[in-house]
Formats: sequence, C-alpha cells, structure tokens
Amino acid sequence: MTKKTSMLGSAGANTRLAHIGNDPLSYHGFVNPPVVHASTVLFPDSETMEKRGQPYSYGTRATPTTDALCAAFDELEGSAGTILVPSGLAAISVPFLAYLSAGDHALIVDSVYTPCRNFCNTMLTRLGVEIEYYDPEIGAGIDALIKPNTKLVHTEAPGSNTFEMQDIRAIADAAHKHGCVVTMDNTWATPLYFRPLDFGVDVSIHATTKYPSGHSDIIMGSVSANAQWWPKLEETRILMGICGAPDDSYQILRGLRTMGIRLEHHQKSALAIAQWLEGRDDVARVLHPALPSFPGHAIWKRDFKGASGVFSFVLKADSDNAKAKAHAFLDALTYFGLGYSWGGFESLALHVNLSDRTIRKQPEEGPVIRLQIGLEDIADLQQDLEQGFLAAAAV
Ligand SMILES: Cc1ncc(COP(=O)(O)O)c(C=O)c1O
Repeated sequence: MTKKTSMLGSAGANTRLAHIGNDPLSYHGFVNPPVVHASTVLFPDSETMEKRGQPYSYGTRATPTTDALCAAFDELEGSAGTILVPSGLAAISVPFLAYLSAGDHALIVDSVYTPCRNFCNTMLTRLGVEIEYYDPEIGAGIDALIKPNTKLVHTEAPGSNTFEMQDIRAIADAAHKHGCVVTMDNTWATPLYFRPLDFGVDVSIHATTKYPSGHSDIIMGSVSANAQWWPKLEETRILMGICGAPDDSYQILRGLRTMGIRLEHHQKSALAIAQWLEGRDDVARVLHPALPSFPGHAIWKRDFKGASGVFSFVLKADSDNAKAKAHAFLDALTYFGLGYSWGGFESLALHVNLSDRTIRKQPEEGPVIRLQIGLEDIADLQQDLEQGFLAAAAV
C-alpha cells in the first residue's frame, strides 16, 4: 500500500474524490488517465496470448481508462469490483440477468424507477422470473414475502419520484437469512451520502448519468458488488459483451472530481426550496427525506450523510383540474426546463406519472411535481416557481 492510499482511507470525501481512481506516476505523471480507444491489444508472443498473461487483452475487457473509473467506484462504494454499462437502466438490468433464472421469484420495491418495472414486467417475466412488488416501508416485514424460490430483493432509497425511505439494514438482514442477493439503486444519494454495502446490500447500482456526470451530457451506469456477488456480475458482463465507452468513462471520472462540492450546493438549495414550498398554502405536501415532516425522515437521518437535489411536492388541486393545474404550473417556468433525468447543473421539473404503482399510489391531494434543483441561485429559482404557482392558481 502506498503512503497516499493509506492516507486516503481516513480522508474526507472531497480529498478522496480528488485523488482516487488514477495513479499519475504510472502514466508519465499526467494527472488524468489516458483515454484509450481500443479493440485489439497486441501480445508479445503466443504463450502470453494463450494465457492472457498481461493486464489488458481486448477492448471489451478493460482499458486503463475504464480501470481508473472502476477503481474510483470501488474506493467510494467499498466494493470488490465494479462494471461499467452504457446506461443507468442497464446498471439495473445486467445484475438482474446475472442473478436471476427461470423459476426464480424477485421482490422489487413498488417505488422503483419506472423503466426497471417495465424491464421486470416484460423481459424478466418472459424469461420465467416471477416478479412481486413490495411496500417501500416494509422493513423487516419483507421476511413474510420471501418464498423458497426468492433469489433477489431490489431496493431503491429514497424511492423514485415519491422519495419513500427504506430500512435497508433490516431488509438486507431478512433477505440474507434466505440466501437472497440484495441490490440497491443508490443513484439519489451517490456513495458520498450513502454506502449501501456498509448496510448489508450486496450490489450497489448507479445511473452515473446523474451526479457523477453532472453536466447532462453522458449516459452511463455502474454496478459495484461485494466479494460474494462480484464473480457472477463480472462473468455476466463479459458473456453479454457489455463495456464502458472510453470517452464516457473519462468524462465520468472527470465529473467525480467535483461531485462533492456540486452535491453540497444541490443539497443546500434543494432543502431551502423544499422548506419554502412547505410554508405555502398552494402546496399540500413536500416529499423530501431531509424535512422533519417527511414520514421517512428518521431513517434518512439515521443512515444517510446528506440529501441530493431532487425531490417532489404535491400541488393542491381537485381531481378534475389536477392535470390542467400541473401543466399550467410547468408551462409558466423559465429557468426550470421540462425534461427527464436529473443530476446536471440546470434545474428541471416534471409532472410525475404514478399510474404504474400497485401499492404506493398517486396522492389524493393533487398532482406530484418533481423538481431537480440545479446550481442556479435560489432566489432566481424561487421567482421562477412563483410564476408557476400564479399560473396554476389561474386554472
Ligand atoms: C433512480 C434512477 N435509476 C436509474 C436511472 C436510469 O438512468 P439512465 O437514464 O442512465 O438509464 C434513472 C434515470 O432517470 C433514475 O432516476
């Protein structure tokens, strides 16, 4: 272990982000790793080729660029190995394909990212996997849903769009009693604000598209596994021919360097706006885990080190004008763009569709509006949201 590696073990988050994932002295001292574009890798002789007796053997396997990013994620997540995949959605589907077979049963949290549900309800069902959704707040009660053929429990905390918290430790402990693998979509918190493997999760999933990228211009995913579940994950990636693109890997590593300070800003602004929204008469509820009024707040406070910049609120409306009010609100916004995704520098808003939920359904008080709070100034964002509320009030 080098002096730097041993010091980084106890260093602060921003120090680690500035130094992980790359050893400049192993590449002529350049601070950043080279972007290696590669399919073929040459071997010095046939024996080395036969034994793959060198660090790199083919472009799909690994390059110095992808290795640097994977090493950074292993450092952040405390994982045995990380794979890179072409999107955050693939970071969910690839481990599911790695760990599930025909005849298995999988438990998926009901507040899951919608395209994950679509993958489960179509492809996994077609491949003979039985899917069951569970209440995000089930905690240790998940034990009662585990059957002899349950092989995987998928968690996401906070939940997509409605931000329910999960007692990850209690769920993982129950799942492990039955030998299930526990996966978690940790995109919202990033490994800076939550380290799933420290709470019993086996496989941590990220849409690195979001905060690690930070600039709304890269689509990529990462999956980090503990020692028990790593070999199967790596094998599946190789069998499926999936690999991280060199330029994207470089950009994500670049994004990680500033992720800590960006997140601090997102956190501060989002919380200020959430508190401001909570005091308004035209808002029924604010769905943000860092607000003491939020039902999952105690779990968030106990387990998480921070909150990122995405949350929702329920706009007060009657059921007959809910959609019209939501659309009027969104159409009056200027700085907030109407767009999917989050984690970038710019603020975004959308009207959440919860029609796919089986347990955690649409709130009765009105439409759910999700906000991604970007790096703009809070006063400007509030002024923009005021325009939205004025327009909604006119409906
Ligand atoms: C929680 C969560 N997980 C995964 C994804 C998928 O990421 P990508 O857009 O890179 O496929 C998203 C995208 O919005 C997400 O919100």
